Amino acid sequence: DEAELLAGFEATIGHNDRIEPRDWMPEGYRKTLIRQIAQHAHSEIIGMQPEGTWVTRAPSLRRKAILLAKVQDEAGHGLYLYSACETLGVSRDELTRRLIDGSQKYSSIFNYPALSYVDVGTIGWLVDGAAICNQVPLCRTSYGPYGRSMIRICKEESFHQRQGFELLATMMRGTDEQRAMVQESVNRFWWPALMMFGPPDDDSPNSAQSMAWGIKRNTNDELRQRMVDMTVPQADALGVTLPDPSITWNDERGSYDFGAPDWEEFWDVVQGNGPCNKQRIDHRKKAYDDGVWVREAAMAFAAKGTEQ
Ligand code: 3HC
Repeated sequence: DEAELLAGFEATIGHNDRIEPRDWMPEGYRKTLIRQIAQHAHSEIIGMQPEGTWVTRAPSLRRKAILLAKVQDEAGHGLYLYSACETLGVSRDELTRRLIDGSQKYSSIFNYPALSYVDVGTIGWLVDGAAICNQVPLCRTSYGPYGRSMIRICKEESFHQRQGFELLATMMRGTDEQRAMVQESVNRFWWPALMMFGPPDDDSPNSAQSMAWGIKRNTNDELRQRMVDMTVPQADALGVTLPDPSITWNDERGSYDFGAPDWEEFWDVVQGNGPCNKQRIDHRKKAYDDGVWVREAAMAFAAKGTEQ
C-alpha cells in the first residue's frame, strides 16, 4: 500500500541510492523533477541563442570552430535533459510547448544580450563556470536519469569554461582597448551570473523539499559562495576587476565575503521583464514553426517504414 511504497522511497533516498523511472515516487517528487529538469533543458537550448549570433562574426577560423563546437554541445545537453525528463512521463513536444507558452522558464542569465564578441569569453568563463558549480553536485542527484545526464554535461562544460577563460586571457595580453572590452563585459555579466544560482536560501520556496528529496545536494547560497571562491583567484590571474567592491577574503570562514545581487532585478527578469525575454521566446517559436515540415516528413518516413 501507499505507506509501504513511501517508506521504500524514503529508505532509498535515505541511503543516497537512486530512484529510477520505474520506481514508485511521490507525485510531488515527480512534479519537482519535471519542473527542474525541463527548465534546465530549456536553459541549454535558449542558451544557444546569445552565442549563436557570434558564430558568423568570430575573429578567426579557430575561434569559429571552438564556438560552433560549444553551441552544438549545448544542443546536446538539451537533448540529454529532455530525454531524462521524458522518463517522468512528459513528452518533449509538450515541454517545448510549455517553454514557448511561458508556463516553463529557463535560466535568467540568457535574458541578457551578448553585445560583443568578448562576451563569448565571459559567458564561457562565468556562465559555464557557474553552470559547473551548479551541475557537479547534480551528478549525485537522487533521480537516476538526471544524475547520469550530468556526467557528460559536466565534462563538456569544463571545456566551455576553459575556452572562455583562454579567450579572455588572450585579449588581456592584447591592446588596452581589448583589455577594456574584457572589463566592460565582465562588469555586465558578473552579477547576472551569481543570480543563476537562484534566490537567497531564505527566499527559496523549493530548496528545503528538494534537499530532503536529494534532488539538490547544496543550497543556492552554498553554490553561489563556491562560484565566488573559485572565480576571484581566476579574475586576479586574468587581471580583471570583479564589479563588487565588497569582495574580501574572510579568514574565519575560509571564503570570500561579497555583496548581494540586485534581487529586484532578478525577480523582474524571472517574471519575464529582462532585456531579451521576448526575443528569446520569439526566436524559439519561429524555429519551432519553421520546423513543422521537418517533423511531418520524419513522421511520414517513419510511417512508410512500418508499412514495408
Ligand atoms: N532563472 C530562472 N528562474 C529561476 C532561477 C534562475 N536563475 N533561479 C530560480 N528560479 C526560479 C525557480 O525555478 C523557482 O520558480 P518555479 O518554482 O516557478 O520553478 C523560483 O525561482 C524559486 O527558486 P528556488 O530556489 O525555490 O527554485 P529551485 O529549487 O528550482 O532552484 C535552481 C533554482 C538552483 C536554478 C535549480 O532549479 C537548479 O539547480 N536547476 C538546474 C540547473 C539549471 O537550471 N541550470 C541552468 C544553468 S544554464 C546552463 O546550464 C547552460 C550552460 O550550459 C551555459
